Amino acid sequence: MRKTSTVLTSPNETEPIVLGTSFRRMGVRERRDYLAVRLGLSGEDVDALTGDTDLTDLCNVMVESAIGHMAVPMGIAAGFVIDEERVNVPMAVEEPSVIAAATHAGSLISRRGGGFVTIADEPVMCAEVYLRDADGIPSDRVLKKFKTEVRTRLREPLQAMTARGGGFRGLRVERVDDRLTAVRIYVDTRNAMGANLLNSAAESIRELAADRLGGESIMAILSNAADDRTAEARFALPVEFCARGKRDGDEMAERIVTANTIANRDYHRAVTHNKGIMNGVSSLALATGNDTRAVEAACHAYATRDGRYRALTEYEVRDGVLHGSLRLPLALGTVGGGVAFHPASRFALRVLGSPDSQRLAAIAACVGLAQNFAAISALVGEGIQRGHMRLHANRLAWMAGARGREIAAVAERISAAGRFNDETACRMLATVRREKSRETPDGSVSE
Ligand code: MEV
Repeated sequence: MRKTSTVLTSPNETEPIVLGTSFRRMGVRERRDYLAVRLGLSGEDVDALTGDTDLTDLCNVMVESAIGHMAVPMGIAAGFVIDEERVNVPMAVEEPSVIAAATHAGSLISRRGGGFVTIADEPVMCAEVYLRDADGIPSDRVLKKFKTEVRTRLREPLQAMTARGGGFRGLRVERVDDRLTAVRIYVDTRNAMGANLLNSAAESIRELAADRLGGESIMAILSNAADDRTAEARFALPVEFCARGKRDGDEMAERIVTANTIANRDYHRAVTHNKGIMNGVSSLALATGNDTRAVEAACHAYATRDGRYRALTEYEVRDGVLHGSLRLPLALGTVGGGVAFHPASRFALRVLGSPDSQRLAAIAACVGLAQNFAAISALVGEGIQRGHMRLHANRLAWMAGARGREIAAVAERISAAGRFNDETACRMLATVRREKSRETPDGSVSE
């Protein structure tokens, strides 16, 4: 059996940093300080994670009429192996079970199934100019001339992006209905998500489009569909490692495939199935300062691509191996916009080993797939409530007033009693404190 250990790739070090199981046993501050030292981070980036720094000015720059910020927990789903590289995934999320589930499934697939393999499209995004009452679809000759003019007009706004290897990639004119026409321009935005760039590019050609194709320009805006910028993750896990409780691997793998079939056939289940995938994807998007709403909108729209909303994942069993896959449109940036602007997102990107945008998209697809595998394995196995309630016990302990080490002690007692309510939490806290005061004469809470 291979030992569970975790690696952080640091751009400052040629050798990856190996984190053993001791990382999980560390306290919160200890984990953070350890990562910061190993990744060569200091000051602002670390303080942003602790809330020790005043982010008020930053918030005021980021949004209008800021009054402060809302801290969301950031954690690490450790132990993923993606394309033969070890990756630890920073996730920002308020739901207790998400990081635990991603960690469990990600490391199981990595240790027992050899990890995830991925493929990601070039980061090409689309922006549209909508015309009303244009002169129909232009002839090849008009289109060719128009394309050359657009390319020339976009030279300036896309200059810096072109210098980075991106830039204009093409143009299409399509009828939306009998009065509306879409002029779609395609731009490779490299490591940026690209919203500002695309909007500027589209606005800079809107009058030109109306002039050359006829009609009136109604609006110009990027498309968040991002369906030319997909990433796919796959895994192959021998069925024996799917075994859970009393069910053996064959039975569990067959039930996992059935769970996916249910989501493909029943829209109501598909929404929840895909929400579970987005638990992973959005948490990574938020941790890295990306636009979670854009990613959510694109993925749910993608789930309807064959005319019906269905599961984003696919599963099948072949020769005793469970094959899982997930393809998603993922417009995730590693520079620009809110990315790397918020110091906590800089920290997250360093934890990931400073990936480019295609690699980040590939990692997001893996986390989404792991998250789904974890959810449906639990659902078709013992159900999700047992695990959820165990984690919920931590919150009850906190709400009852437990702090530091008291939290785990109280949560354990709540779980053992099987009574997940405030009253039990208060009673258990009193017991833990009584026992503790017998140990320490001053009755103080030890951290
Ligand atoms: C909860 O946040 C996500 C799940 O409901 C996903 C699913 O049902 O597949 C557990």
